Amino acid sequence: MKKLLLTIIVATLAIPQLRADKGMWLLQLMRQQNLEDNMRKLGLQISVDEIYSPEAPSIKDAIGIFGGGCTGEVVSPNGLVVTNHHCGFGFIQQLSTVEHNYLQNGFWSQSYEEELPCEDIGFTFVVKITDVTDEINSRIASGKITEEQSFSRAELAKIGKELFDADNVEGKKYMYPQLLPYFEANKYYLVYYKKYTDVRLVGTPPFAIGKFGGETDNWMWPRHTGDFSVFRIYGDKDGNPAAYSKDNVPLKTPKHLNISIAGTEQGDFAMIMGFPGSTSRYLTAEEVEQRMYQKNEPRIAMRDVTLKIIREEMEKSEDINIKYASKLARISNYWKNSIGMNKAIIDNKVLETKLQEEADFKAWAKSIGSSEYANVVEQINACVREMNRTQYLTTLTSELIGNVEFFARNLSDGNKKMFDTPEKIAEQMQSYYSWLHNRDYIHNIDRRIAKEVLPLYFELTKPEERDSYLNEVEKKYKGNLAKYIDEVYDNSILANEKNLKKFLKKPSLKKMESDPAYKLRTAILSVQRELSKKNSEFAKRMNPLHKTYLKGLMEKANGAPMAPDANFTMRMTYGSVKPYQPKDGVTYNHYTTLKGVMEKENPKSSEFIVPARLKELYDRKDYGDYALPNGEMPVAFLTTNDITGGNSGSGVLNSKGELIGLAFDGNWESLSGDINFDNDKQRCINVDIRYVLFVIEKFGGCKRLIDEMKIVK
Ligand code: ARG
Repeated sequence: MKKLLLTIIVATLAIPQLRADKGMWLLQLMRQQNLEDNMRKLGLQISVDEIYSPEAPSIKDAIGIFGGGCTGEVVSPNGLVVTNHHCGFGFIQQLSTVEHNYLQNGFWSQSYEEELPCEDIGFTFVVKITDVTDEINSRIASGKITEEQSFSRAELAKIGKELFDADNVEGKKYMYPQLLPYFEANKYYLVYYKKYTDVRLVGTPPFAIGKFGGETDNWMWPRHTGDFSVFRIYGDKDGNPAAYSKDNVPLKTPKHLNISIAGTEQGDFAMIMGFPGSTSRYLTAEEVEQRMYQKNEPRIAMRDVTLKIIREEMEKSEDINIKYASKLARISNYWKNSIGMNKAIIDNKVLETKLQEEADFKAWAKSIGSSEYANVVEQINACVREMNRTQYLTTLTSELIGNVEFFARNLSDGNKKMFDTPEKIAEQMQSYYSWLHNRDYIHNIDRRIAKEVLPLYFELTKPEERDSYLNEVEKKYKGNLAKYIDEVYDNSILANEKNLKKFLKKPSLKKMESDPAYKLRTAILSVQRELSKKNSEFAKRMNPLHKTYLKGLMEKANGAPMAPDANFTMRMTYGSVKPYQPKDGVTYNHYTTLKGVMEKENPKSSEFIVPARLKELYDRKDYGDYALPNGEMPVAFLTTNDITGGNSGSGVLNSKGELIGLAFDGNWESLSGDINFDNDKQRCINVDIRYVLFVIEKFGGCKRLIDEMKIVK
């Protein structure tokens, strides 16, 4: 009995430890939620004010949004930024041609002058965070906004702008506000951002290092990818954001990260700050099933066919390979994620866990006499059942548009005014044409994809779920949709220059509206509009229910810290360096080395090529200061940090706040993590900063970058 009691006590004491790693925490709540104690237990040595302080420069000022959906961090006094290779990928690809194939061969600038400006790029810092929950609640109470509006992104953006306009914050000219709901609209924060748009490519490893392992290794451990690229932020001479100009200068930020090459041991503290995009940790079990069968499954099915075609085509030439590399990576990434997620939800018993949580919640709700809480899950589920098919069709339509470029946009999206004169029609048609036939577009590959994706869409939908025009087409072509696609891809005004030129001789609305591609896209668009109307009706019912459910869960937690779902705002997650057991009898080491790159080498597969220069360095063990004590070269390592897409490129910091790696992936066995964090299996995959520095210095010969960083041992 005594022993049992002891076991219970030990087990209870152990709980906070076990749970310590879950959570994408808000910086502004770190003190209030008293996360410091847990972080200290795991080894944090610096004060939490050094991580985030509203008053003084802190680590958060060295970290920002890279591009549109990644994280990057400043690592020198001259605005040098590191992020993932897969985050820089699109920009590197844009700069690449068959003559200067930076994607394939890498790129290392040897001076500021050689750094390459990128189009449509940005680096965005968080300047100020304010809790505006009371403000919003008082607007609801006074009837200034309705409850329904309090969930609306557009309405919140309006209020955010109003509050921002009334604020006399310094340097306002360069900032913009974002007001978002958190904790399912139980909280609201207003964040000011400052965005720099002159960001230049400084260096990148070749594909064979930056994407070593390709799609085969994506979402997997053990991993050997040197997933990093280097950029620099430029500002005007006063350090303010400015459009690209020769006169701009490297940016001096209030804070940059120092780098540690002292290395990591199992159990070492690890912290990650960045911008996780989206998680759904407060779904009911039925909502999880909806995700599996109405979202992931149809997405997998549609992308299966597209990916097969793209892979085949990419084998054909280097030109196609460059043009489709980015598309392949984009389409494949969440195709594989969806497959892994559905498997992990089952393997990790996520549905069972959710059902148990729901039962506990209901019992608690009854115990406090709250019928509102006791019934809320059932109300959510009733709504879920009603909306399942709509969700399924929504996935199919967005995949239709996401997989086939010719279906992606429609001239009729805008207002008719854009087309009220022949000149305007000509202008719109021309601009659409050049958008579609961009440098990377190959009409006949897109045609091939359309020929398979459209019939699949027909197979998976019922006639009444499709636009009547599409049903007429099917009848007219007696089910031969491939023939129909050929006609569209041959005869549309947008099919080729010849057709466009002919149209431009005498542009008219009538001709435009009878164009087969125009009709097809209008049909898809009208289905999409219907679905989006239905979805917003569902959201109106669902939003308040989720708000109630989370309010109840927070009440039940009784002060234990909780983190809101990710929404691409800045978060901090802490944990430690740790191996894991993917399955019975198998343990994965917590780090990999260059030896593994050589083991995986396969000259026959474009994903596993090892550059000759890397082999030479490996043979000579020419690792500079960056080798492990045993002389090997570290490549990647695992931590227990809670991250998701958007965190890509985030710096991994040690107990002193020094940079030790860059997060770049999650592991296959816990792809259910966006829905439920798995304490045993969830790992964050990071590239070791020593590998990054080794590749920059020894492989890239770009010592000038090393010299501007502060590296500590
Ligand atoms: N799975 C990682 C992420 O989503 C990497 C994606 C890019 N890599 C790739 N092989 N497609 O952040």
